[in-house]
Amino acid sequence: MVKLTSFLSLGATLGALLTSALAAAPAFDGQYIQANASNNAVEWWWASVIADAEGSNPPPTFHILFYQGYAVQFGPRDPSLPEYYIDIKGYYPNGTTIDAVIPAASGDVVTHGQDVRGTWGTVGSFHTAADFSTFTIKFTAPDFGLTGSVSFQSKAGHHFGCNTTSSPYFSGAIPKGTKLSTTEDLLWNQLGWATTIPGGQATVDIVYKGSPLKFTGAGYHDANWSPQPLNDIVTTTWYFGSGRVGPYDFSYVSATPINSTLVLNTGYISRNGVVLQNQCSVEGKKSRDISTITPYGSATDTGLTVPTGYILQYVLANGEKITFNLTAQGENPDLSIYHRWVGTAVGGKEGENVEGLSIFEWLNPGLVPYTPSN
Ligand SMILES: *[C@@H]1O[C@H](CO)[C@@H](O)[C@H](O)[C@H]1NC(C)=O
Ligand SMILES: *[C@@H]1O[C@H](CO)[C@@H](O)[C@H](O)[C@H]1NC(C)=O
Ligand SMILES: *[C@@H]1O[C@H](CO)[C@@H](O)[C@H](O)[C@H]1NC(C)=O
Ligand SMILES: *[C@@H]1O[C@H](CO)[C@@H](O)[C@H](O)[C@H]1NC(C)=O
Ligand SMILES: *[C@@H]1O[C@H](CO)[C@@H](O)[C@H](O)[C@H]1NC(C)=O
Repeated sequence: MVKLTSFLSLGATLGALLTSALAAAPAFDGQYIQANASNNAVEWWWASVIADAEGSNPPPTFHILFYQGYAVQFGPRDPSLPEYYIDIKGYYPNGTTIDAVIPAASGDVVTHGQDVRGTWGTVGSFHTAADFSTFTIKFTAPDFGLTGSVSFQSKAGHHFGCNTTSSPYFSGAIPKGTKLSTTEDLLWNQLGWATTIPGGQATVDIVYKGSPLKFTGAGYHDANWSPQPLNDIVTTTWYFGSGRVGPYDFSYVSATPINSTLVLNTGYISRNGVVLQNQCSVEGKKSRDISTITPYGSATDTGLTVPTGYILQYVLANGEKITFNLTAQGENPDLSIYHRWVGTAVGGKEGENVEGLSIFEWLNPGLVPYTPSN
């Protein structure tokens, strides 16, 4: 309703309204779809900060999702669950987990040009600067024990997933005219991804239930949306991760729609802020300008076999390979259907062996067993 009202307040006639609605793209970090309690749509603004571990503790981390709706939802919505909420996970430097899910009475996103302000009831807010240089989060929820702020300074340009400025969808990887199933259409044409801060410094300065969490580390911020929850699109393979290793900032997604053989891979990597790759593709269709993510190892976790790490490889358009070994030092949340690991990423181009930090996840809503290949 908020979006409609703000369109209507422009005083446009219906014709002009339709024309301007078609012409005006949403702000890059703004609202893309209407998620509300009467539909299954979901939209979220995600940000993460990770810093070097102290001793053998998991690395200090802060992850936040400003949610409208639910990324995973089986069956009809439980009406007692809030539509708008803030989900925070992470680790204090001493290894203690932080876990807060805070409901909000509203989740409003207001834009002026590219300046974006999100306000989640009285509990928290975010602000994206119109030039994409900063992203700032503020918490004002003393009733829930949460106060403070988190600020991000970008080091590279904002981007969509397929090296285009015109579309936040992965449609560019599929030849025009290809007949897609419902789940394929959702993944390639309707699930959106906008990365405002591909990498940069971030400072966490919050207090949760009396415990201060204060550190500076590698920051990342993106947003996603979908007309249906992710478990309506993928059964077993949704891999997402991001990280910073020396001069490199990277992120990737690999996902396979339900009952499909078309694997989506999208990869971004920059070196000293210069973009080396920003592509989306169907796995197997080309051998350069691609990214791949390969699980290895095996451990038992929440009753299922899970990998112990991933090899992430970028093959650039010129054939150069950049490879990172992602290894977990902590996991929060740790659920059978969803794992979010934090740890190290080691590698670089051939001959390099730089160590950095990574956050990487596995969404397995079908609880399909993972079969180690090694
Ligand atoms: C919820 O969103 C749908 C679009 O999916 C829209 O048609 C409907 O009016 C919205 N309902 C409310 C109560 O805002
Ligand atoms: C670790 O830090 C948390 C948050 O500050 C605190 O509550 C906890 O007591 C600390 N644990 C130890 C063992 O120091
Ligand atoms: C996937 O295929 C199975 C077996 O044919 C079928 O039961 C199921 O409904 C399909 N799911 C979707 C989302 O297409
Ligand atoms: C992105 O696209 C532009 C042209 O629009 C091209 O010049 C550039 O090389 C591409 N970058 C990557 C990393 O693919
Ligand atoms: C990745 O790192 C893990 C943990 O250090 C190690 O056991 C494994 O051999 C490494 N894999 C590769 C391919 O380097």
